Amino acid sequence: MAFLTHPALRCPLDAMPLVLENGSLICERGHRYDIGKQGYTNLLSVQHKRSLNPGDSKDMVSARQSFLSAGFYEPIAKSVMHSVSQAAKSPATVLDAGCGEGYYLHYITEHQQDPLNIIGFDISKWAVQRAARRCHGTWMVASNKNIPLADSSVDVVLDMFGFPDYVSFERVLAPTGRLIRVTPAPQHLIELRTLIYPQVQQVASAHVHPNTLNRLSSEPLTFSVELERSTLKQLLLMTPHMFKTSVQGRSNLERIGSLTVTVDVVIDTFTLAGS
Ligand SMILES: C[S@@+](CC[C@H](N)C(=O)[O-])C[C@H]1O[C@@H](n2cnc3c(N)ncnc32)[C@H](O)[C@@H]1O
Repeated sequence: MAFLTHPALRCPLDAMPLVLENGSLICERGHRYDIGKQGYTNLLSVQHKRSLNPGDSKDMVSARQSFLSAGFYEPIAKSVMHSVSQAAKSPATVLDAGCGEGYYLHYITEHQQDPLNIIGFDISKWAVQRAARRCHGTWMVASNKNIPLADSSVDVVLDMFGFPDYVSFERVLAPTGRLIRVTPAPQHLIELRTLIYPQVQQVASAHVHPNTLNRLSSEPLTFSVELERSTLKQLLLMTPHMFKTSVQGRSNLERIGSLTVTVDVVIDTFTLAGS
């Protein structure tokens, strides 16, 4: 798919505007970033790269793509799309921070009537490679800690099950912009967690946010999905539970054919305080 350049793109090294020249993005100080044939660019600066391949691994990304493409989280995508259409005046710039393999931005562009400028980034190059294959957009490898976009340039920031950096989100949000955040609620995947852990831990509270943001709304969303064992394994692989599951937990999983699992999330919409 084609990489779409955006006037808000900024050099990750000196925050100067990036312009398109012969298939590369260049700032006036001469820093150059190639746009690959796969339709994305890498704007992750070395100081924000803690390992050779940061973020979700190729296997995690592949599991997430299979799981999400099967439509199990479509109610979440639908609700978020509704929140985006309420928040954004057309043509709006919608940024998915930690976009994974692009499922939600793709869903929104496919189902929303109004044209949107979509920008997605993730620290995992495996995730961005897949996202760029899904649809045209401004796709990049980058970090929440150093979002390569101009101040006040984004109408909607999406943070879907991500690792929020509120200072960066607030910097890129336009004064009337919205942050839409999806976080797990207490019953999220409770049946799976009961199966794999000897003792189920409480989900950390979704109600934490900095006082520089005003919460406009908080919508709970709960539904059930019936999952075969192979799909449960994909779900496990795409979540942090994968790394915490005990040997006993894995063997419990091998013994079941299918499981009805509760999906329990909260969709919060925030504005900048004082806007
Ligand atoms: C739980 S996944 C959610 C992916 C996607 N938002 C979704 O809901 O399908 C978290 C994502 O955040 C990415 N990530 C981790 N640290 C990040 C950072 N500092 N900046 C941007 N993305 C990051 C991971 O690579 C992974 O794709």
